[in-house]
Amino acid sequence: MITFYVFVFGLVFVVYERLVLSPLSKIPGPSLAAATRLVLMYHEFTRTRKQWIHELHLRYGPVVRIAPDEVSFATWDAVKEIYVFEGSGYEKTNFYKLFDNYGTMCMFSATEKGPHGERKKIFADRYTKSYIMQPEVVNGIQDLATEFVKKCTENAGKAVDIYVYLHCYALDGTTLHLFDPLGTHTLTDAGELVKMKELAFRDDLVDSYKEYYLFDLLPSEIAPLLANYLRRPPRPRRIATQVMNTARRTDVASHTVLSKLLEAKLPTKSIASEMLDHTIAGHDTTGDGLCFLMHELSLPRSAAAQEKLHRELAENPGAPIDDLPYLDAVVREGLRRFSPIPMSLPRRVPKGGRRIGDAFVPEGTIVGCQAHTLHRLDESVFPDPEAFIPERWLEPEGAMERNQLFFAFSTGGRGCIGKHLALLEMKLLLREVYSGYRTRVAPEMTASMELDDQIIVSRPKGQQCWIIFDEVA
Ligand code: HEM
Repeated sequence: MITFYVFVFGLVFVVYERLVLSPLSKIPGPSLAAATRLVLMYHEFTRTRKQWIHELHLRYGPVVRIAPDEVSFATWDAVKEIYVFEGSGYEKTNFYKLFDNYGTMCMFSATEKGPHGERKKIFADRYTKSYIMQPEVVNGIQDLATEFVKKCTENAGKAVDIYVYLHCYALDGTTLHLFDPLGTHTLTDAGELVKMKELAFRDDLVDSYKEYYLFDLLPSEIAPLLANYLRRPPRPRRIATQVMNTARRTDVASHTVLSKLLEAKLPTKSIASEMLDHTIAGHDTTGDGLCFLMHELSLPRSAAAQEKLHRELAENPGAPIDDLPYLDAVVREGLRRFSPIPMSLPRRVPKGGRRIGDAFVPEGTIVGCQAHTLHRLDESVFPDPEAFIPERWLEPEGAMERNQLFFAFSTGGRGCIGKHLALLEMKLLLREVYSGYRTRVAPEMTASMELDDQIIVSRPKGQQCWIIFDEVA
């Protein structure tokens, strides 16, 4: 009986501490979520985390407490404080351990600054804008864009599932940059299609959260014992094997990321872990982003945008890819409206706590911003936020505020290293399509294009997107 009373008293004290004594108690948010993490976990396991947080921001404003020890922010001040200032010390949380490959860390999964920086400096030059714009890279991606259009138009007037071919394009483009000529050829070789399918159709959200909470919440002596009974998040077996075998090869082109990893003489497992991470990071995001964008452009409501894009491309056939302002605006608006990584990017508040905007946040608290909300909440920056309006990016007024809140690639030292490659891939593909074709959604297209949350990316829920390509006369 005494044990029972001690337990109840302890529980009451914990809740009282969280709701009244904690410095976070001054931050708005639902009381139940402040009292127990179970509320947030419920939304994570039911794939509603991003939307739930967004609705809380609409209700409570730009700072919301979403769990006893977690706060979501949606302002530029918070982005600057958490992600931009070098040396501010907001490290990644253990959530990122989920992204180790072959049991070995990669740059993305490194939680601390030191190991992250060490790894990044090995190959950072391969992803700079000037490097990406070299003919070796541009020509390779251009060939894939040409192949994509050929694939989509070989049966004139027939609907094509671009979800499949866009993910093939993104996978082949990424592995080309990573380890040409040993990359995938899923666009041209039907036998390799299964590699793309393993990646684009896997669903590891529930297993990943189970693994995360097991290791995060339980003592380190117990968690590994229980892990034996847990179904591990499924790994893309075929691509993981190809990457591991490739990590041992030295016959790759000198302009690839692999050539730099080999120069650094890293252990084979570390090289493979790094390359598998980039392969997955470049495949899902670019494939999903392009799919949402082409679907939107193919809807009757975007006819004017498609027409404007076609006109710009037709009038400037040989223009450098970055000298096409409407194309740039279309891509930005696509990434704003349908961010491939719309979820919070969690970081831990460093020693001593920090002031973020007006809120004091004690050390150890998990803080983060999500692109989905940054791209919508402040309607003075993004009026009519649910509408697809490329023109908003062409107005000089408010450009600084728009750029500050644009978070599709995150920002700062841990922002997306593949951003320039992704933008090149997106722009070359759209130019190839809309220079010569109009697209429309096929009448038989019934699959849902709702954003379906995975562990960090969001993809089209129905995982199909049937589009018809009509040649421009
Ligand atoms: C439209 C396409 C893409 C989007 C929207 C995107 C978005 C992002 C975001 C938001 C992050 C930060 C995640 C976090 O902090 O948790 C990130 C990191 C990263 N991305 Fe991308 N990405 C894209 C394409 C690519 C490509 C093509 C590659 C490489 C081939 C790539 C490789 C990476 C890597 C390696 C990181 C980790 C960076 C670090 O830890 O320093 N991404 N990406």
